[in-house]
Amino acid sequence: MDELFTKQEISWLDDVDKEGKVINPKHELYGKSIENTVLHMPAASGSTVGADKLVYLSINGHAPKKIILERLDPITMWGAIMGKIDVEIKGKEKKPVDISKIEKLGVDKEIAELLARAGELLGTDEFIPADYVQISGVSYKTVLDTGLELRRYLASKYKFRASNVTINPAGMDTEDWQAIGISADFAEKQNEIIDAYIKMGALPTITCTPYLVGSTPPPFTDAFLSESSVVVFENSMLAVRTNREAGLSTLLYAIAGYGPRYGLHIQSNRNPKIKIKVETKLSGVLDFGLLGYKIGELAKGRIPYITGIDRIPSIEEIKELGAAGAASGSIDLFHMEGITPEARYKMISTDGIEETFEIDRKELDSLKDMLNTGSAEEIDLVAIGCPHASINEVKEVAMLLKGKRIKEGKELWITTSRIVKDIAKRLGYLKIIEDAGGHVVADTCVVVSPIENLGFSTTATNSGKAAKYLPRFSKQKVVFNTVSELVQKIVA
Ligand code: F3S
Repeated sequence: MDELFTKQEISWLDDVDKEGKVINPKHELYGKSIENTVLHMPAASGSTVGADKLVYLSINGHAPKKIILERLDPITMWGAIMGKIDVEIKGKEKKPVDISKIEKLGVDKEIAELLARAGELLGTDEFIPADYVQISGVSYKTVLDTGLELRRYLASKYKFRASNVTINPAGMDTEDWQAIGISADFAEKQNEIIDAYIKMGALPTITCTPYLVGSTPPPFTDAFLSESSVVVFENSMLAVRTNREAGLSTLLYAIAGYGPRYGLHIQSNRNPKIKIKVETKLSGVLDFGLLGYKIGELAKGRIPYITGIDRIPSIEEIKELGAAGAASGSIDLFHMEGITPEARYKMISTDGIEETFEIDRKELDSLKDMLNTGSAEEIDLVAIGCPHASINEVKEVAMLLKGKRIKEGKELWITTSRIVKDIAKRLGYLKIIEDAGGHVVADTCVVVSPIENLGFSTTATNSGKAAKYLPRFSKQKVVFNTVSELVQKIVA
């Protein structure tokens, strides 16, 4: 059996194709197949739907035989557990977990066995109530047929015991899917996945910004969240305690009503390990996204402590920073001097900082150049709203489009939650945007919907996270700039 070694994290969603080949040209395993190998890797980065991809690879015979992780990684771990792939964490003894202890919590035997397997790898037999759960792995494009099958099976057997369960964006606007060109076959499978979640007891929030639509755990509460941008936002800004769970683990914890206590549930594990000195003034969403992206690349799984931010950033700036950092690396939590609650109220210690990095304007500018792989003339689609747009972001686009018309052959989508779309309608922004020829698209985004099949080749975005995923996962060239620059490029 071949052994493959990498020091680079793997994003299961977009670094590896459906046949198990590494397709990221910047990855040191580029061009190699992971099928039937013993794969030594640090951990997964990026999307938490990666666990579903591993299950898919396993069922189709393209997965590694064994994965040896350098550090604890719920995404790879849960993909391996559900895909029946041998997995271990280097240097960590598996700690046997007594299944009957989990069953005594009222958890069904089948689910208790899976939780015990996770507890063994995580090194904990402590299971705490999972009342607040947010589940990724909703889009049919990301979970594929194997994911649909699994959710169909679970919904036929179980109801959620967790009381507050929200779900991530789907692969389409659930009401207006025909208007954006989604096929009937895709829509049918997508609706089946959403119906399965609702049948089990989820709220159909269908958004990656539940904190913008009134659904957040209280501060300092233990939660089990899986969408990577939600994890970093709620851990950092709201002091919620969550690990970056896999979509699959949150699904099972919601059924069990319990999840394991480990990692970021424990206060002493929330101390920063690297310091980031920001040596330039930041202005607006694009700058904060660039900063987050850069920090993600430097962090290598470590918690950053950010200094040099001279004002409290807006919600939109913070959501971009976290989303980009979670996508480019695996930032689950950051602290910002004098701003984020645990830094502000001195709940963390900076004594364990191992390394300091300085980030200046030159670095942000060169990163921006690197993310631009297409030209303004080639833009087919301008996509705003990753993570899902706030009402302020919808308003900004509406004001830029007022009285103008989008050029023939170009499209504009603002992706957001249905609640924000309804508010935009009430405030008249929806009409302004639609009169100009644009769309406010609810329940989905350009990464998890199949835009590569809708005739788009070059997508323009102001989101570092979207710029990271669009090239390989949606086969797009990317134009990366501010909202106003992008809108100007496509209006007559
Ligand atoms: Fe949300 Fe889609 Fe971006 S799920 S964070 S808008 S990739």
